[in-house]
Amino acid sequence: MKRMTRVGLITSGGDCQGLNAAIRGVGKALFNKLDNVEIYGFYDGYRGLIECDYKYMESKDFSGIITEGGTILGTSRQNYVPGKDIVDDEGNSVIPKMLATYNRLNLDCLVIMGGNGTQKSSKLIADAGMNVITLPKTIDNDIYGTDTTFGFQSAVDIATNVIDYIHSTASSHSRIFVIELMGRDAGWLTLHAGIGSGADVILLPEIPYDINKVAELIESRRKKGRSFSIVACAEGAVSIDDIKLDEEASRRKKENSKHSAVCYEIADELERLTGQEARVTIPGHYQRGGPPCPADRVLATQFGAAAAELILKQQYGRMVAIKDGEITSITLEEAASQTKFLPVDHPMIQMARDIGICFGD
Ligand code: F6P
Repeated sequence: MKRMTRVGLITSGGDCQGLNAAIRGVGKALFNKLDNVEIYGFYDGYRGLIECDYKYMESKDFSGIITEGGTILGTSRQNYVPGKDIVDDEGNSVIPKMLATYNRLNLDCLVIMGGNGTQKSSKLIADAGMNVITLPKTIDNDIYGTDTTFGFQSAVDIATNVIDYIHSTASSHSRIFVIELMGRDAGWLTLHAGIGSGADVILLPEIPYDINKVAELIESRRKKGRSFSIVACAEGAVSIDDIKLDEEASRRKKENSKHSAVCYEIADELERLTGQEARVTIPGHYQRGGPPCPADRVLATQFGAAAAELILKQQYGRMVAIKDGEITSITLEEAASQTKFLPVDHPMIQMARDIGICFGD
């Protein structure tokens, strides 16, 4: 009788497209390669592991889900104390409860699908004695040690499509449009969608903008007969003045601001500086919704199958990654070590400058 392998699956943090494709990849590969395997799908991210709330997953549970958005397991965000702990709302560590579930179900390994924060908290779970393999997912593409993450390309497609649609109405009304895209403190999504949709200005968290430079670009376009302008702005974009503020001053500014998002401030200032009407569009969570694009389905399946392979080899404490087109894995320590921001000398930024896109610097 072959030894039983017991695996727990968790989707953690903000959702994105491709989670179900990844779940499917792990499940199908495990059932295909192992005679004796039990898979436990924990509900709502870490909550399921903490409260021992799970679904015993059969082979059929992994069929027919590759096209579905969201996650069939549900997800949630955890309270992560950087580098130290995962805690409940009262500040008590939840790691002992996670370990208790892990031992109770006699698990061999947890496969945790998560973003930047989850990679860091997974390291703490591994440090507590649980075998962990992680998969990098996020629309932000900000996970260190992998060239890309699933969810990213689907969000780029949606964001690009939003800006494509805005173009015609911006043109009809000769308006400035500021479109604010997600990505937290990293500009990958905005850079890709901005280039893909032919935005005139791209504002990124990594390159503080001078609003006067943006206004100058819009003016020069107007002089050339281009009556409208498209500004793709990351939600984490910051001005050259605001970047100088310390944490306290920045908090006070946000509290006192009449604007709930940076795009409104940018639109107001551009209207004042250019005299041209400006409007704002925020696609928000729309960027994270709906079915994964084919590229994300493929990537998530590759990552899921690679996680199964690591389980077979009993190589734990690792994050599956893609580097130069090759599926590989890195240690959780490396994955958790930093956030992958957009390098300001990235060749795509240089190329965008070469074709005349303004970054406000
Ligand atoms: O990390 C993914 C992300 O969608 C970010 O781009 C965004 O800032 C954040 O999550 C939104 O979080 P929530 O879904 O909790 O509002």
